[in-house]
Amino acid sequence: MVSDCRALYSLVAVLITWSFLTKSFSHAAQRDIKCLKSIKNSLEDPNNYLSTWNFANTSEGSLCRFTGVDCWHPDENKILNIRLVDMGLRGEFPLGVSSCSSLTGLDLSSNNIYGNIPNNISKLIGFLTILDLSNNKLSGEIPEDIANCTYLNTLKLDNNRLTGQIPYQIGHLSRLRTFSVTSNQLSGPVPRFTDSTFTADSYENNRGLCGGPLPRCRDHSKKAALAIDGDADAGIIAAALGYVVGVFLFFWVRARIN
Ligand SMILES: *[C@@H]1O[C@H](CO)[C@@H](O)[C@H](O)[C@H]1NC(C)=O
Ligand SMILES: *[C@@H]1O[C@H](CO)[C@@H](O)[C@H](O)[C@H]1NC(C)=O
Ligand SMILES: *[C@@H]1O[C@H](CO)[C@@H](O)[C@H](O)[C@H]1NC(C)=O
Repeated sequence: MVSDCRALYSLVAVLITWSFLTKSFSHAAQRDIKCLKSIKNSLEDPNNYLSTWNFANTSEGSLCRFTGVDCWHPDENKILNIRLVDMGLRGEFPLGVSSCSSLTGLDLSSNNIYGNIPNNISKLIGFLTILDLSNNKLSGEIPEDIANCTYLNTLKLDNNRLTGQIPYQIGHLSRLRTFSVTSNQLSGPVPRFTDSTFTADSYENNRGLCGGPLPRCRDHSKKAALAIDGDADAGIIAAALGYVVGVFLFFWVRARIN
């Protein structure tokens, strides 16, 4: 009798756990559905690439067959990557992406994404390893919060209209292996990376980047150094003058003695 009760308790426990797990799974799936709906709603899609994103039947695995969507598992609505490349999509950075809570890669390259990179980007896509926003029309500054996306190993922001300085905090992204901000309107010193090195190729065609693999920055300390150099030049001129005067005096005195 006692053991029957125990068996019953274990069965109940198992059932409760199971229903809790399936609820939390389906809750996660609901979030991923909400994520894709929101992305679709926030982007103009003149070429109808996202017409396959049909939310009438969102049975498990249905999202995984949407154009540009990869799932962790082909029969589970848990999204791994979103890759919407060169589709003519137009709009601001889709904030709804934050609902894709298992997302590791976002590639929106070669579209017409405009406006700023959100300054809370780490709250939106904090677990991303790949972020490719290259070849769009993004403007404004690169937010320093991007340095809080600590899993990033690929960050491509090239061919946009980004201005201002590159936040030095990006240099602390220890997993970064691919990084490009070429062809923007950036200026000032490039980040000092602690765990990787990037060549000048990462920075080409900007307004005025400097430091690192690029020519040294002409900052205030450089000006101070130039001022010292200037003093040194004056010293050399003074010494040379002194020498000339000295030689003249020597011959003058010698001529007088003779
Ligand atoms: C939804 O799609 C699945 C297969 O993708 C199918 O088995 C199921 O019957 C569909 N449900 C509805 C309500 O159409
Ligand atoms: C991020 O910032 C935008 C405004 O730029 C705001 O609408 C959104 O709710 C914020 N998201 C989070 C997750 O903080
Ligand atoms: C990273 O996040 C922390 C906590 O949310 C915040 O205090 C800090 O300013 C962020 N760092 C950057 C570089 O934005």
